Order: sequence, then structure tokens, then C-alpha cells
Amino acid sequence: MHYDSIANQHGLKHDPFKALVAPRPIGWVSTVDENGILNLAPYSFFNAVSDRPHYVMFSSSGRKDSLRNIEKNGEFTCSLSTWDTRDGMNISSAPVPADGDEFALAHLETAASKFVAPPRVKQSPAALECKHWKTIEMPDVKPGGDSGHFVVFGQVVGIYIDPAYIKDGMVDTSAMRPIARMGYMDYAVVTPETAFTLNRPVVDPDGSVSSPSAAEWDGEYR
Ligand SMILES: Cc1cc2nc3c(=O)[nH]c(=O)nc-3n(C[C@H](O)[C@H](O)[C@H](O)COP(=O)(O)O)c2cc1C
Repeated sequence: MHYDSIANQHGLKHDPFKALVAPRPIGWVSTVDENGILNLAPYSFFNAVSDRPHYVMFSSSGRKDSLRNIEKNGEFTCSLSTWDTRDGMNISSAPVPADGDEFALAHLETAASKFVAPPRVKQSPAALECKHWKTIEMPDVKPGGDSGHFVVFGQVVGIYIDPAYIKDGMVDTSAMRPIARMGYMDYAVVTPETAFTLNRPVVDPDGSVSSPSAAEWDGEYR
């Protein structure tokens, strides 16, 4: 099939878009409101967008509590969602009123952040502490409306990594078993069995390109 995605008449049971941009990492976003009430929610329109300096983004479908708190207080954290924390992550997506604390709801513990006020999820092996840079309202949002998409960018000012997952000076991501969102209600999990290595291609002096052995990392950070 091949269809006009603006008209979006795909003829399938559900819009396949999110099943195709997959798997998407999940930013498990914590914020604090002006009364000190904690808020926690997963966002899979989430990614790193630059690594020097470190910036991340997530997109809120409508003006949700996370967005409101960030625009008021300017800070958030993104904890890593993992296989072990999948149920807590899912419960924290429940649409509870703004004064409901999803940490408590999901029986998750907080751990103090070092550089921002919102705490991270203690059970999560890694977290990014972020300062709000800007929010971009996607162009199809009706002016003054509440139903469009709002892309929130934050600079990462602090990073927590559980030392148990640092091996030979490198982060053992697959040992953390991060989970990612696919389409519908589906998820993927990264494990040591499913992770693999590809060395970057090498351009030879004659202009040909060769691909170094992919069995393991050759140690060159290209
Ligand atoms: C895995 C997962 C990913 C989600 N990704 C998004 C997302 O990218 N954008 C969004 O607006 N809502 C997303 N949601 C729904 C929000 O988590 C949900 O609306 C939540 O109640 C928002 O909380 P808040 O109002 O406290 O910010 C996702 C839910 C789940 C379970």
C-alpha cells in the first residue's frame, strides 16, 4: 500500500504512523508543580536531539500537566524506562487529576536530583536532569487552542547512572533492559541478546568503502 498521509485514509484498523516510527525511546518525565506536587508521566515522542551540548525533546499531545509544570518551573527529569519498571511506567500514564502524585500511585520511590528540583525515579538505572529551553507549538495547532502538539526542548544539565551498569568505562545499556514504544499497545525491550555492534564503514584511499568486521567493536569511535 502507498497512501496520502495528509488525507490519512489508510484503510487500516488504526493509523499505522506510530507502528512505523518504532521503536521509540520513552522519556519518563518528572516535574513539580507550584505547590510542590510531584508529577510523573511517560512520553514516547521523546529523543535526544544533540550531544554537544546535550539536548532532549518530548512532545505533549495537548497541554498536559508535565508541560504546564515545566513552563512554570523550568525543570524536568527523564528517567529511563526499563523492563523492571514497565508496570510503574504504565501506571504513571494514568490520566489522574493534576494534584495526584503518580510516584505514589505507581508505588515508585523518588531519588533527589542534583541539579534540578524534580526528583528522578529511584528504581530507574539512569536519568537526565533537564532545564527547559523552549517549547515549540506545532504549526497545525489552532491559535489559543489546547489540542495540538507542543514540543518541549530541554538542556541536560545533570546525568545519573547507576554504577552497577558501568562496565570497563562504558555504559552497558542492554543490561539495563530499556523498553521502547512501538505502535498500538506494543513495546520492545533491548537485551544483551538483541543488541548488536556495527563498526562504521571505512573509506579506503581508492574511494571504495569497506565495512569492518561487525563481530565486536573495533575500538575506533568514528
Ligand atoms: C509508553 C507511553 C508513551 C506515551 N507517550 C506520550 C507522548 O509522547 N505524548 C503525549 O502527549 N502523551 C504520551 N503518553 C500519554 C501520557 O503519558 C498521559 O497522557 C499522561 O497522563 C500525561 O501525564 P501528565 O498530564 O501528568 O503530563 C504516553 C503513554 C505511554 C504509556
